[in-house]
Amino acid sequence: MIEKPGKDWIDVDLTWAAAEYQKFVEAALRLKGLPAVEKRDLLDGRTVYFMFFNQSLRTRSSFHTGLAKMGGHAVHLDPGSGIYLPALPGQEIPYVTERVSDVARVLSEFGDAIAIRMYGEPSGWVYGSANEFINEFGRHAGIPVINMECDRFHPCQALADVMTMKERVGDLKRRKLTISWAYSGSWHKPVAVPQSLLLAAAKMGMDITVAHPPGFDLDPAVVAAARGFAADSDSSIRITNDFADGVTDADFVYAKSWCSLEHLPTNRSEAVDEEGMTKLFEQARDWCVDDRTMALARESVGYLHCLPADRDQEVTPSVIDGPQSLIYQQAGNRMHGQNAIMTMLMNPAGLA
Ligand code: CP
Repeated sequence: MIEKPGKDWIDVDLTWAAAEYQKFVEAALRLKGLPAVEKRDLLDGRTVYFMFFNQSLRTRSSFHTGLAKMGGHAVHLDPGSGIYLPALPGQEIPYVTERVSDVARVLSEFGDAIAIRMYGEPSGWVYGSANEFINEFGRHAGIPVINMECDRFHPCQALADVMTMKERVGDLKRRKLTISWAYSGSWHKPVAVPQSLLLAAAKMGMDITVAHPPGFDLDPAVVAAARGFAADSDSSIRITNDFADGVTDADFVYAKSWCSLEHLPTNRSEAVDEEGMTKLFEQARDWCVDDRTMALARESVGYLHCLPADRDQEVTPSVIDGPQSLIYQQAGNRMHGQNAIMTMLMNPAGLA
């Protein structure tokens, strides 16, 4: 039996012990391999409430589909119009918002889990505040709370990423993963994906290179925690500002865009420094994964992206649509990984 990371699935990449995380990845892959008939009742009678403060294709559809395939029921609560907007103390507006602690407790009276996505605009782009919002749900809910991506972590994505790499090569220990920044015409992407992946891959014992132009450093607390996991597994983390150096000899290249934490506001009364942010992005237009980039990596290299991808900006079509690309298998693993997460949280005995 896997020792759960606690009631919730929020900051697991940061907080869950590597040994338990590794066991869970194995269990998720086993669950994926089971015939559908053996999974159809795992969440029989369970209801999960979904709140998306941001757009989503994969997370929304994979959670809903996976839950239905396991006998559960999804209720979509639209914070934009369908419900009173959940709010923290100090951000309340009469008859427009409802305090998070009340929402969490009410839903806990009749449901089995609450799943939330929030980053960026809905939290004023103040780094860490969306994570705090989801944690506030976790503190007050009597049922599990699932982080479907906040401004710090995307633990459902990282699980799918690790599953996909394991399916490709087996044991991930000492395999070389490059997590690279890539150019996009939009700066509006949080650091959640690279940060969760960095932590999860370090727990799996991978040798990781983080590559990004100056100004795109990840959260130092996250990097320090990842270094701790890497030290425990005798693996390594290296950071470079040189794109070519970053991808050289990689077994996996995972390149996507993320915003600069340096240009985000520190409180909600301030605005994003869009001019500074855009300038930084435009200086790094050449950070695009193309065939030349992939030729620097190992011949057996796999290309990963969480999607949605900006073709001809983050990556050329020849790479993302080419033979090294694992993106659809990776997207498919979103559902399989989340099925394991929901089973562990709501029916732990069902996860062998
Ligand atoms: N990768 C990911 O989370 O995709 P969505 O934004 O479509 O959910």
